[in-house]
Formats: sequence, structure tokens, C-alpha cells
Amino acid sequence: MAIPEAFIQELKERTDIADVISGYVQLKKSGRSLMGLCPFHNEKTGSFSVSRENGFFHCFGCGAGGDVINFIKRIENLDYVEAVRFLAQKAGMTMPEDGRNDRSAKLKTRIYEANREAARFFYRKLYSPEGKKALDYLRSRGLSEKTIVHFGLGYAPSSRFELVNHLRAKGFTAAEMIQANLANKSSKGNPFDRFCDRVMFPIIDLKTNVIAFGGRIMTDAKPKYLNTSDTPVFNKSRNLFALNFAKNKADGQLILVEGYMDVIALHQAGIENAIATLGTALTQEQSMIIKRHCEEVVICYDADDAGQRATQRAINILRQTGIRIKILTVPDGKDPDEFIKSHGEQGAARFRMLLEKTGNDVDYKLKKLRASYNTDITEQKVEFLTKAAGIIAEIENPVEQNVYMRQLCKELDVDKESMERLVSKISRQEAAKKIRAFRQTAVKQISGGNDKLNRGKVLNLRAANAEEALIALMVLNPDIAGKVAERVDPKLFITDFNRNIYEVLQRKIKNGMDVSMTDISGDFSDDEMSRISSMLISRQQENDAGASADEYIAVLQEESEKLTPEEIAAADNDTIMEQLRKLKEKKS
Ligand code: GTP
Ligand code: MN
Repeated sequence: MAIPEAFIQELKERTDIADVISGYVQLKKSGRSLMGLCPFHNEKTGSFSVSRENGFFHCFGCGAGGDVINFIKRIENLDYVEAVRFLAQKAGMTMPEDGRNDRSAKLKTRIYEANREAARFFYRKLYSPEGKKALDYLRSRGLSEKTIVHFGLGYAPSSRFELVNHLRAKGFTAAEMIQANLANKSSKGNPFDRFCDRVMFPIIDLKTNVIAFGGRIMTDAKPKYLNTSDTPVFNKSRNLFALNFAKNKADGQLILVEGYMDVIALHQAGIENAIATLGTALTQEQSMIIKRHCEEVVICYDADDAGQRATQRAINILRQTGIRIKILTVPDGKDPDEFIKSHGEQGAARFRMLLEKTGNDVDYKLKKLRASYNTDITEQKVEFLTKAAGIIAEIENPVEQNVYMRQLCKELDVDKESMERLVSKISRQEAAKKIRAFRQTAVKQISGGNDKLNRGKVLNLRAANAEEALIALMVLNPDIAGKVAERVDPKLFITDFNRNIYEVLQRKIKNGMDVSMTDISGDFSDDEMSRISSMLISRQQENDAGASADEYIAVLQEESEKLTPEEIAAADNDTIMEQLRKLKEKKS
């Protein structure tokens, strides 16, 4: 790691993990730690814990954990050096030189620059003679000059080399163009333009970097849209089109539509809180980004079957974030763009009227469900009500549950009490299912049965637990860490994974350094740091750390004298008898 340890040390002193995380997650005090909803997986009840005192976070639900640098890496999608720079800036520190020269950060910067240059190039081409048909196309779709400029739309010419030549003249290498996915590589290894004869939509992130492009063909040829594939700066499942604009206009609400053109038409109509996914179904990651920018989302997908299926999926994903969901169905099978255009001057006002009338996700689901049953037939009515009870059981607010039950029971003339019993039965079943699943993961974690990081754990459970406790004590108690490092030979560690961690700790301590989470986060992967955080989480309240350390060391000594399961398998009878004799001696 090119960043000097003293720099990390100072960064640690100037950074408060709870303050940093509070910028992303609402934290509430709970005992000695702070709790909130985990930003790394979908959940409705908080299992995300932050320890200000010990400088780490840990999620009991998904297992993510680590120090403040790990947090920023994950949430801002940065590598280690970039995350350190990000935090250093916040702390008013200047990065040391060699950090800035980090290769991957440098490549990313080059890709941003190439993308920005490409966006300028495409924009200029739109207003050149060869771009006239693209400009005409955009105008024919009702876009104003202002909108074209606002979204930075452009035209990729049909020659296969114009952009490549242009970028080369600007000093970009073939490798950079290919890594940015602005060029493909020919069989001879030469770059050629990825986008040809298409209208170009730049995709811009929240820091206003151009990170990718969508390119629409102007004929009926396929594919209709060609998007940038994932690159070091772009991941299509972690970004949303036009969120850079919409986040400032959200005022608590975002509108999720399917297509780029829908977003653009809505923004042009003054409805500037519209966003879209990037040619894929909504992902969990996107749902959590949405959650960060609003309290309510209006799903406004196409009215066709595919659109309705996508709506159901999006509801299920968004629901897990606890965000309020509304569904807007555009009439006459139109998409938002077509709808607005078909109403001319009145388009915006009409769309706003639709917005006013949207129902929430429960309304939507019940309506959809109802449409597939003939409730005049008793059997179908029962089936409908049973399924409806399932939908109502998912609602958390009992008052809201009540409203739906009352409405349904009135409409279908059924006894409200029996409906209530059905709903609460389903709720109980669902809760039991969740508890069972939670238990199973916990059991797996404790037994190390499914442990991919530390494969030795399941075979050496007692030793591995003592190893983990010792590691935790060292990270949490600087005053005893030195003594442990002096006393304990790494050979005493049986599992390779834990021994590696211990060796790093020991080396650092011998070099006179601290081993808090932030001091070691450059030495381990995110997964490893998550694991270390899980070792710490239950061991923060040790009263006499010194005495506990002695106990754990004693366990390690005992365990190291035992034969490992592998050794037992390979051992001869005498060796095994000797081992049994030793064990007996100890017991008596
Ligand atoms: P127009 O047809 O120009 O109105 O575009 P649209 O945005 O309404 O497109 P449509 O509703 O057909 O598709 C919605 C979104 O799905 C688009 O904005 C693209 O992000 C994506 N998409 C559509 N067609 C393709 C395709 O052929 N390839 C990829 N990768 N994505 C597509
Ligand atoms: Mn469309």
C-alpha cells in the first residue's frame, strides 16, 4: 500500500465513523452502539450497527462490516486509495503524492476524461451536416433545443473510426478507449468506434462525471439501444439515468420510468423528478440508491405485459427498502413519452393529473389480483380473498391493514372477523418463516459449516473460536495487544485464515503501530474486514481483557497439542492411543 501509515493514523484521528455513516444512514442510539437500516442489503428492521468508540460497522443481516474506509469503498464504489482520498478531503487533509499516482484511480480518471471528450464530440456532430438526420429525428420526437442541450444529446457518426481518431488526436491511447468501452477491438487488435450512426444519450453520475452512453438507432434495426457495457467507472445496476438532475428536484418523490425517452419527455414537460434504469430490470442496489434520495417512488412503467411484470418485480424490490410506493398506469397502452406528446400543450398538465390519482402498491396488487377472478363464483371469491389476505399481511401498519380489510369485506360482503383471523394467521406464518431462516444462517455462521473464507474453522471449531476472540481482543484493546503479540507464536493458530490475520497484527505491533480497524483495512479485502468486524461485534464489553486473553491463549495451547482431524485420519494406532492418554490425563 502506497499510503504511509502515519497518514492513515492521522486520518483515523480526524474521522468519526458515526458522522461519516450518518451521511448515508439514519442512525439511532442503541446501548453502546448506533443502529440503522443497512445500506448494503434490503431490510426493514435495522440490523446495521456502528461503533463510534471502536471505529467499525457490522451488519447482522448481510455480514458486511469493516472500518470507515471499507464503508466508503462499498457505498461510493471506490477502491482503497480513492476511499482514503475521499475521506482525506472531508478531513481537510492532502493526499501524499504516491497515493495520487495509483494506477486504477488514474485509469478511471482517464476514462472520465475520454467519456467527456466523446460527449463533446457527439454533441458537435449533432450540429454538423452528417448529424442533421439525427437532429431532425430528435426534433421529430418533440425535443426542444433546450432539452437537447440540457441532456447533452449527440450523434455518433457512421464511420467506424471518427471517434477513435478524434480521441487519439486528443492523446488517448487505444487501451483507454477500449477500457472506456468507447471502442471495440478488431481481430487485428485495432480500436474502432463502438457507437455508429446512433443518437447518443450520455449517462451522468451524481458527481457529474460522464460515465457511459446509451445509443439509439434511428431505424427499425436491432438492437434499438446499445449501451456502454460495464467499465471501471460504470456499472449498469448501480446507476440510474437522470438521477443527477432528478435528485435536486425530488422533494421527497421520484418517478421511475422505463426508457430514456420517457425521462427526457417528462423533464421537458417540467416533471424533473423522473429517472430510469439503464436497460435492465430494477436492481436491489438501485432501489437503495432511490431510497437515499426520496421517501416515495412512483413506478410508471409501460402498460404492456412486460411493463406490468416489471412493475410487480419493482414493487417487490422497492418494498423491502420500506419506501412508499405508488403505481401510475398510463392510459391507452401508452408510455409516458407518447402520452405527453399525444396531448400536446396539455401533456404536462394531464400527466400531473395522473400523478394525483395514483394508487399505492397495495391498491395496485389487489386490483390486479381481483381482475383475474370472477368473485361472483364462491370458489373464486374464496381463492381471491385468501390471496388478498396474503397481500394485506405484508402491510406493516395495522391501521392501513384495517382500511384494506374493511374495504374488501364491504365490497365482497364477507365477515370482517374471519378475514382478520386469516390475515393474522398468514402474518404469523410469514414471521415464523423469517425466524427459521434467520436461525439457520446464524447456526451456519457459528458452526462455520459454510465458511468459504476460513475453511479450517468447521474442523477446528474450538480453536477457531479462541483465535477469533484473541484477534478481537487485540484490535479492541491496544493496551493488551502488545503483550499478546509478544507471547503468542503464530504457529499456535490452527486455522490458516486466522493465522494470517494474526501475523499481520503481530508484524504491525512489532513495528510500533496501532492495529485498530482503520490501521489494518489496507491489508485485508472487504470480505476479510467484514469477517473481522463480526469477530469484534460480540466482544466489545470484555471486562478484564487481560484475563480473557490468558484463557484464549490457554485454549490455543491445548488445541495445538491435539491432533487435527487430518492427522487423526493419517495417524497410526500408537499415535492415536497416545493422544487419548493425554486427553484423559488432562481431564483427571
Ligand atoms: P423509444 O422507443 O425511442 O421511445 O425509447 P424508449 O426509451 O421508450 O424505449 P423502450 O420503452 O423500448 O425501452 C425502455 C428502455 O429499455 C430503453 O430506454 C433502454 O434503456 C432499454 N432498451 C430498449 N431496447 C433495448 C435494446 O435493444 N438493448 C438494450 N440494451 N436496452 C434496450
Ligand atoms: Mn418510448
